[in-house]
Amino acid sequence: MRILVTGGAGFIGSNFIRHILSNYPDYHVTNLDKLTYCGNLQNLKDVDGRTNYAFVRGDIADSGVVEKAMAEVDCVINFAAETHVDRSIMSATEFITTDVNGTYMLLEAAKVQKMRRFLQISTDEVYGSISGAAAKEEDRFNPSNPYSATKAGAELIARSYFITHDLPVIILRPSNNFGPYQYPEKFIPLFITNALMDTPLPLYGDGKNVRDWLYVEDACAAIDLVLHKGEPGEAYNISGENKRTNIDVARLILKELGKPEELITLVKDRPGHDRRYSIDGSKVERLGFDRKTEFGSALKKTIEWYTKNTAWWQDIKSGEFKNYYKKQYGERHG
Ligand code: NAD
Ligand code: DAU
Repeated sequence: MRILVTGGAGFIGSNFIRHILSNYPDYHVTNLDKLTYCGNLQNLKDVDGRTNYAFVRGDIADSGVVEKAMAEVDCVINFAAETHVDRSIMSATEFITTDVNGTYMLLEAAKVQKMRRFLQISTDEVYGSISGAAAKEEDRFNPSNPYSATKAGAELIARSYFITHDLPVIILRPSNNFGPYQYPEKFIPLFITNALMDTPLPLYGDGKNVRDWLYVEDACAAIDLVLHKGEPGEAYNISGENKRTNIDVARLILKELGKPEELITLVKDRPGHDRRYSIDGSKVERLGFDRKTEFGSALKKTIEWYTKNTAWWQDIKSGEFKNYYKKQYGERHG
C-alpha cells in the first residue's frame, strides 16, 4: 500500500508514520506537511532516510502540490490541521484555510485520482459538550469553538464526497490524545514541562472540565485498524474510555514528578470552554480495536519521555511558543 499522510510532522501524524513503518515494512509512506509552528521534522528523525518514506514540504490547501503528491499513492490519511482551540479563539483564519479549504483540496484531488481510501481524522469535539450519555456516531454535531466548527465542516464536506462522488471516505473521531512529541501548548505536555521548570500550571476555570484521554499509540492502532477494516461512508469514534477532570490529571502529573500542588494556578477560563467530552467507542471496538495502555502507565511513560527529551521541548519553548504563551497566559493571569 502507498499512503499519503498529511500533517505527518505533527504529534499524532509522526507517531502514526512510525507505527506504519514498523508494522508494515512493505508499505510506502509519503508525508506532506507544511511545517507550521507545530510541524517538526525532529519528530521523525529516526525514520528519515528509509527507502519506504518520503517527506514533501507543502500545503494541503495548494491544489498543485496536493495533485502531485496524490499521483503516487492509493490511500490518503488527512491529519493536517490547525489543532489548538485557544489559537482558534485568538484567530480562526488559518483554521478555515487549512481545516476546511485544505480538506476540500485533498478531496477534489482524491476524487479525480480515484483513491482507494480517504481517512479524515476528525475529533470528538464535533459533538460539543456532552453532559449525559456518551455521543454515538450518528448523534448531531454541536461544535462550540472555531476549531471544532472547522473540523465539523471538514468532515461534512468529506462525507458529501462519499455520498455524491462515491469517494471511499471514512471519518475518525478520536478523543484527547497524549504521549511523546505533543507540542507543549496542549494541556498534558504544557503541565509536564511547566512542572519540570517549576513554573505555574495554568488551570482554566475551576479545573473540573472533563476530557477522555487516549494514549497516542492506541490511537495509531485504531487508525491502522480502520484503514484496513473500516467501512467507506462510516464514521468511528475512538475513545480512551478514560474520563478525568483536568485537576485530577494535573495532580497526577505533579505527584509523579514529586512537585508541590501549589504549582497549580487557577486562571481565567477559556471562552466557550466545553465542560465534558464523552463518546461511545463501541463501534470501533466491534471492528477489533483493543486498547493496550492503561492511563497511569501511559502518563508515566509520557512524563519520562518529556523528562528525557528536554532539548526537544526547550527548543520549542524558546521559539515561537514564547510569544504565544505570553499573549495567551498574560491575559488569563491578568
Ligand atoms: P498537530 O497540531 O500536532 O500537528 C498538525 C500538523 O499539521 C503539523 O505537522 C503541521 O505542520 C501540519 N499542517 C498544518 N497546516 C497544514 C497545511 N495547511 N498543510 C500541510 N500540513 C499542515 O496536530 P495533532 O494533535 O497531531 O492532530 C492531528 C489531527 O488529529 C488533526 O486533524 C486534529 O484535528 C486531530 N485530532 C487531534 C487530537 C489530539 O488530541 N491531538 C484528538 C482528536 C483529533
Ligand atoms: O478532544 C479532542 C481535541 O483535544 C482535539 O481535537 C484538539 O486538537 C486538541 O487540542 C484537544 O482539544 P482540548 O481543548 O480538549 O485540549 P487542550 O489540551 O487545549 O485542553 C485540554 C483541557 O485542559 C481543556 O479542558 C482545557 C484545559 N487546559 C488547557 C490548557 C492548554 C487548561 O486548564 N489549561 C491550559 O493551559
